[in-house]
Amino acid sequence: MSSLQKIIIDTDPGQDDAVAILLALASPAEIDLLGIVTIAGNVGLARNTLNALKVLELSGRTGVPVHAGCARPLLRPLVTAEHVHGQTGLDGPDLPAPQSEATPGHGVDFIIDRVRAEPEGSVTLCALGPLTNLAMALVKAPDIAPRIGRIVLMGGAYFEVGNITPAAEFNIYVDPEAADIVFRSGVPLTVLPLDVTHQMLATPERIAAFRNMGNRSGAAIADMLGYSERFDLAKYGWPGAPLHDPCVIAWLLAPEIFSGRHCNVAIETTSELTRGMTVTDYWHVTDRPANAMFIRSGDADAFYALLAERIATLP
Ligand code: RIB
Ligand code: CA
Repeated sequence: MSSLQKIIIDTDPGQDDAVAILLALASPAEIDLLGIVTIAGNVGLARNTLNALKVLELSGRTGVPVHAGCARPLLRPLVTAEHVHGQTGLDGPDLPAPQSEATPGHGVDFIIDRVRAEPEGSVTLCALGPLTNLAMALVKAPDIAPRIGRIVLMGGAYFEVGNITPAAEFNIYVDPEAADIVFRSGVPLTVLPLDVTHQMLATPERIAAFRNMGNRSGAAIADMLGYSERFDLAKYGWPGAPLHDPCVIAWLLAPEIFSGRHCNVAIETTSELTRGMTVTDYWHVTDRPANAMFIRSGDADAFYALLAERIATLP
């Protein structure tokens, strides 16, 4: 059992982001969710922010502040993924329009202010989308880098190669310059790449477990995964679609179900062919200093058992 961890979730909800947020909210003994910051990614910023508010109200935990972050990458035009997540970004469940609104104040400033305000090393940043907000915070306030306890992010790929291109995973691809800033920041990093998320397949049996849970959160998750799986099942032909972002929160809750290696991960930012590739020195063939715990595998049964156990505690 891990002790109480203060986290900020940076997210572009997205069905899998929503499940990650719900997992965090369903674990109050281990996770103190200080706030949610939204980023443009799966769909545009406004819809991602609306979706974050919807997910909080689904969970009944409306006391968590949601701050809108950046509306586009640092340098490049925004690339979105409506083809995977639907026009709303959270297609599947019919969630009501939120009663609450985003909290005033930019998400980048929220990250900076909370990292400065909390005891040094006590805040974990959990990034579930493009890394623009984290990069902007590190550039605007370099003093926060040594104060951040750890950045745990879903992104990248090495043995599993890319998803949005043959070389790159979506979160890194959308803003490779931001990822480069984060991976060079010196902040302790844990990376949950496609290598491990592609092992966490939402099979029909696993989706049925949410459907049969008897609560609105389980039913909504079943609708979310039942919608977003279409694209991946057609693409990969696997028995289930990979479930990406909840791996970040699951690693915080149960790191023992994952395994990986501390190694150097560098980001391709110049080649258009391999833009956003996470060049991972997993076998230590260079003298590039290790900057990330790169998670290569996980126990899928343990992952889904943890998810089901926690989601069942929500309304
Ligand atoms: O490549 C998977 C990642 O891209 C996930 O975070 C998903 O939500 C999308 O943002
Ligand atoms: Ca995401």
